[in-house]
Amino acid sequence: MSAARSKPANDPISYDATAVLATGGIQQSELDALESPLAEARKTSLQDLERWRTESAGTEPLDPAFIDLPERLLADYGTSRPESELFSILQTARRLREAVDRVVVLGIGGSYMGTRALFESCCHPFHNELSRGERGGRPRLSFEGFNIDNDSAQGLLDVLQSHPHGVDRDDLLAQWAMLVVSKSGGTLETAAATRLFLSALHASVGGDAKLLADRVVPVTGASGKLASLAKTIGCPDVFGIPNGVGGRFSVFTAVGLLPASIVGVDIVRLLEGAAAMTQRFRESPVSENPVLQYVAISHLAEKKMGATIRVLSSWSNQLESVGLWYDQLLSESLGKDEKGATPLTAVTTRDLHSRGQQHQDGRRDKIITNLCVGESRRDHIGLPPLSGSSGNEDQLDDLVGTTWPTMLAAATDGTNEAYASAKRPTATIHLPQIDEFIIGQLLQLLMLATVVEGRLVGTNPYGQPGVEEYKKFMMKRLRPNE
Ligand code: PA5
Repeated sequence: MSAARSKPANDPISYDATAVLATGGIQQSELDALESPLAEARKTSLQDLERWRTESAGTEPLDPAFIDLPERLLADYGTSRPESELFSILQTARRLREAVDRVVVLGIGGSYMGTRALFESCCHPFHNELSRGERGGRPRLSFEGFNIDNDSAQGLLDVLQSHPHGVDRDDLLAQWAMLVVSKSGGTLETAAATRLFLSALHASVGGDAKLLADRVVPVTGASGKLASLAKTIGCPDVFGIPNGVGGRFSVFTAVGLLPASIVGVDIVRLLEGAAAMTQRFRESPVSENPVLQYVAISHLAEKKMGATIRVLSSWSNQLESVGLWYDQLLSESLGKDEKGATPLTAVTTRDLHSRGQQHQDGRRDKIITNLCVGESRRDHIGLPPLSGSSGNEDQLDDLVGTTWPTMLAAATDGTNEAYASAKRPTATIHLPQIDEFIIGQLLQLLMLATVVEGRLVGTNPYGQPGVEEYKKFMMKRLRPNE
């Protein structure tokens, strides 16, 4: 798949919880009874947007601007193209694509997990291992600043410095740039990595201040330490994170869109998918609304069946990072006041060989939501005859020609049947395929569901006050005299 594209489609994703109801753990009447509280929670979530716009929120954290952000970005792009944010993102992405062969994204939490989800779901699964030609001229993407791991940082520096032709300033393949992403501009992990990689970049451009400035693109709040650094360095392109969009809801700002566009993701289609999901969320009746049905089933499974663990079980390797992004989204949004379900990402069939036993026979504290993909992007692989032997040692001759999707479908259906036989609640989000339009819908569905559930259960989904604690104690150790 040298930068293989799937054909554009407008297929909607869907949510199916028939198998949860079939366990008998949730009654249809309970689902019906939740209709009006859900409609109310949807109304409150949308009103949050108005409250935020009219600044009537008081001191409580309120970051609902992600809700209509995709449609606003698209509308601006459609009407005032050269001045629009989307246009600037596409321009900078093009500039970097043409100038460098690797981009390092520095960020943590909401400032990198969405990017990773977009990269891993929409790009070639081995993007970084392909030649520049096979990547369609799109740079490689690497991540740092999401931990304080000495050897991993050194490892990336090794990669950046070990070009076969040495650091030749005329060799495009030796050029790299960095995106520094931090809304607050003061997160230690990202700030420390910024110093480290800035120094490496400075050396790599031979101390050329103009080139250095061109190769650093900060994405940050309007003021703060990173914004000041950007000014001092003289970075020509600096992107903001709009007010009212919190870190873990920022995937459709420059935070996610810029790096995604650099590696060739069609960010307009992504936003179209997200906007389509917001429209469905606003307009569809509760019983046909994928966002509200997902909330209803997850919530009732927790209340009525004790399913405090939500396993998002991806039937595609490429969606694992979407799961990890969602882990953060749900944990930071609803894990408050000693409440909130625990999200867990699984990739199947891989994790059936590690977690399957527990899902089938362990505590009854889980609901499994499958992420199933209808159509693979590449030609189907068929099981080949055994090479190097005329016998049938592996006893698979009867399956010769059976395709990978057929085997995966058997695994999915078989697993669902096994869970059903043990009355394990299992729902499914169906993705017709993996492409930008579908991923846009999926991420927006999960963000909307998270805030609606917060409003349903009386938890403010915005803000993450608990995360401040570790930072406080960490800094006390680093600066004992303050
Ligand atoms: O969701 C959030 O707001 C957090 O996960 C932040 O994204 C994370 O803590 C990084 O913060 P910052 O972007 O300010 O460096």
